[in-house]
Amino acid sequence: MTVQIFAHRGASASYAEHTRGAYLQALADGADGVECDLHLTADGALVLIHDDELDRTSNGTGPVADRTLRELRELDFSSWKGARVPPEYGGTAEQLLTLDELLDILAGAGRDVALALEFKYGTFFDAALVDAALEALGARGWSAADSVAGTVDVSFMSFHPEAVKYLAERVPAARLCQLLEEVGEVRGRPDDAPAHAPGCRPRRSQAAGEALLDDGVARLAGPGVGYLRANPEKASRWLAAGRTFRVWTVDTEEDLQLCLDAGVAEVTTNRPADIRAMLGRP
Ligand code: G3P
Ligand code: CA
Repeated sequence: MTVQIFAHRGASASYAEHTRGAYLQALADGADGVECDLHLTADGALVLIHDDELDRTSNGTGPVADRTLRELRELDFSSWKGARVPPEYGGTAEQLLTLDELLDILAGAGRDVALALEFKYGTFFDAALVDAALEALGARGWSAADSVAGTVDVSFMSFHPEAVKYLAERVPAARLCQLLEEVGEVRGRPDDAPAHAPGCRPRRSQAAGEALLDDGVARLAGPGVGYLRANPEKASRWLAAGRTFRVWTVDTEEDLQLCLDAGVAEVTTNRPADIRAMLGRP
C-alpha cells in the first residue's frame, strides 16, 4: 500500500499556510493531496483560513466572519511567516485564497490531486458553510457519486459530528472524515507558528464523533497522532471495520512509523517533501 500524502494547509512549513505559495510548493513536492480549512465571510464567500480570527496569520484583527471578501483582500496573509514569497509564486505579500482559487490551482497541477476540505466552526455547527461549499463544488461539476471535480478528488472533514451528520444527509455517497484529537494534543500547526491557534472546539462532542465511525456514517477516521497513540484499541476496531485512516499532523519519522505500524493509508503533513523522502518515494 502506498501511503497517500496530504499537505496540511499546503506545504505550510515552507510558506505561509493556506497561501498560493504553500499550495504550489505542495504540488511541486509531490503531495498526493492538499488539506484546507474553510470559513465563510460576512458576505458569504468561502475562504481558506484556520483560525476564527485574523490575528495570527494576517495583519488584520478580529473575526473572519465579520469581514467581507473585499475587506479581506486588502490584508497580507504571508508576511507573518517571515518566509519570502518566491518570484515564481508572485514575489510579494500574499492574499488569502478562496475555495475557487484553490480549485483553480489544483486543476492546473497537470495530474490528479486529492482535496481534503475541512469545515471549521467557532462553537456551533452552521449548515450554511456546508451548503455554500457543496454549491461551489457543484458548479465545477462535482457530484457525490464520483467525488471528483475535474481532476480534483474531494473529501470532507470536520471535528464537529453535526457537520459530518449533515453531510451524510445531503451527500451520502461522499467521502466523509470524522476528525478526532487527544486531550491536550498539540494542534497541527507548522512548528514555527505561534501556539495560539483557535479555530474549533472539538472536545465537547468527541464521543458523538467516535459513534459516527462505529456506525460507518464516516468512512474515514481522522485522528491526530496523539489520539492514534493513545487509543490503539479504537484504531484497531475501526480498521477492522474497514475505515480508512487519515492521520494529522505527521511531520517526524517517529510519527510516520507509528502510522505505518498501525496500517494508516493517508497522512497529513506540513512537510510533504520530507515525508515523501522518508517513505522512499522518488
Ligand atoms: O487535517 C486535520 C487537521 O488539520 C485538524 O487540525 O487544527 O490543523 O485544523 P487543525
Ligand atoms: Ca485543518
